[in-house]
Amino acid sequence: MPDTLYRLVYMSRNDISDEIEPQIGGILEISRENNRQAQITGALMFNSGCFAQVLEGPHHAIQATFERIQCDERHSDVTVLLFEPSDARVFSSWAMAYVGAQAAAEQRFGHLGRDSGFEFAALDGNEIFNVLRANLYDAEPGEGVSS
Ligand SMILES: Cc1cc2nc3c(=O)[nH]c(=O)nc-3n(C[C@H](O)[C@H](O)[C@H](O)COP(=O)(O)O)c2cc1C
Repeated sequence: MPDTLYRLVYMSRNDISDEIEPQIGGILEISRENNRQAQITGALMFNSGCFAQVLEGPHHAIQATFERIQCDERHSDVTVLLFEPSDARVFSSWAMAYVGAQAAAEQRFGHLGRDSGFEFAALDGNEIFNVLRANLYDAEPGEGVSS
């Protein structure tokens, strides 16, 4: 029987002060490689000083990946907004889609970090998840997983 699928949504505060684009490029490269092997799919958004990320996959794989992510000094105030079983993958085609730096996303998402004063716990994980999903149309396709 396949592992139950889980979905985790978190937000964090960016601590990268310079050369943001190359650093994000590096994060995406390692994420795509690791996540493919771990059967994880998802999306990463960067906007207005915050990251938001969705991870989908088996519980143990999400846990191991998220432990590494939490220890990463390129961000802080890492706050889990949602972690629950899920019926199906929404980001099945993406080992890690990047939906940052888009005008539409900034419009819908940019205010969330600012308005919250980076108090992410007050934010709704489902809303963040929906923003990422809604802005996927423009994300670069990547190799995801088939189940
Ligand atoms: C915002 C952010 C998102 C990240 N997302 C992932 C991810 O989805 N998968 C992953 O393997 N690493 C991700 N990383 C990178 C990890 O923190 C870590 O650097 C990487 O997994 C390599 O870990 P290692 O040096 O312990 O092997 C992310 C880092 C940041 C700052």
